[in-house]
Amino acid sequence: MSEQKVALGIDIGGSGIKGAPVDLTAGEFAADRLRIATPKKSTPRNVAKVVGEIVEHFADQIGPDAPIGITMPAIVRQGVTRSAANIDPSWVGFAAEELFEEITGRDVFVVNDADAAGIAEVVYGAAKDVEGLVILTTLGTGIGTALINNGNLVPNSELGHLEIDGHDAESRAASRVKDDEGLSYKKWAKKRLQRYYETLEFLFSPSLFVVGGGVSKDADKFLPLLELETPIVAAQLRNTAGIVGAAHIADDLSSRGITHLA
Ligand code: BGC
Repeated sequence: MSEQKVALGIDIGGSGIKGAPVDLTAGEFAADRLRIATPKKSTPRNVAKVVGEIVEHFADQIGPDAPIGITMPAIVRQGVTRSAANIDPSWVGFAAEELFEEITGRDVFVVNDADAAGIAEVVYGAAKDVEGLVILTTLGTGIGTALINNGNLVPNSELGHLEIDGHDAESRAASRVKDDEGLSYKKWAKKRLQRYYETLEFLFSPSLFVVGGGVSKDADKFLPLLELETPIVAAQLRNTAGIVGAAHIADDLSSRGITHLA
């Protein structure tokens, strides 16, 4: 029997919780994704209820043993969320993986959202077969980052919070700031992104930058304005990256008998 290898990916964000079964060979959704609005009070219990609904919805398609990868806008260590960006502060220090495993009765791997997107781009997308260090940045409400050297992820890099010129970098360069301050693409690129990426370039000497987040659909309006030695390209998986990456990580770790990414 030729069997499609499938795992479930779920992406928890400040406004929506989205899930889909992922065809791990193609790096694509194996069925339409389901999106449920993030509960107003995004506490662990309320969010876990939605995660339970999503798993239930896809249960027949993924089979009883498929692992689940879940992304969160948080630092995640040993299944415990250590920070909480745009979700309820009660996630800080919370045993997230344990709760999701309890609710779903399955093996769950909770990972940082940018780490999941980075792995997706390296395995299936814009950074496939790139040697050396790939830095993925997601530009959105904040800045998420993933560091992947020759396929090996260094989790929880949090380079959106580098202090640059006395500022938390994401408070200057995230795309939310562009919108809030009404900056044109040109101003944002020249005055904010240039400084951010040249700092990353100096510190890490990457082979490639990959830029994700919703704004990357307009990448041609700002990436060509940056003056860097490192090639910089838009993410390819767009809004599927988190789910696809989480599913890939879950499958990879569970097949190697590893219980946590970090
Ligand atoms: C958080 C990161 C997260 C990023 C994107 C940042 O503010 O600190 O953990 O990856 O936002 O959601």
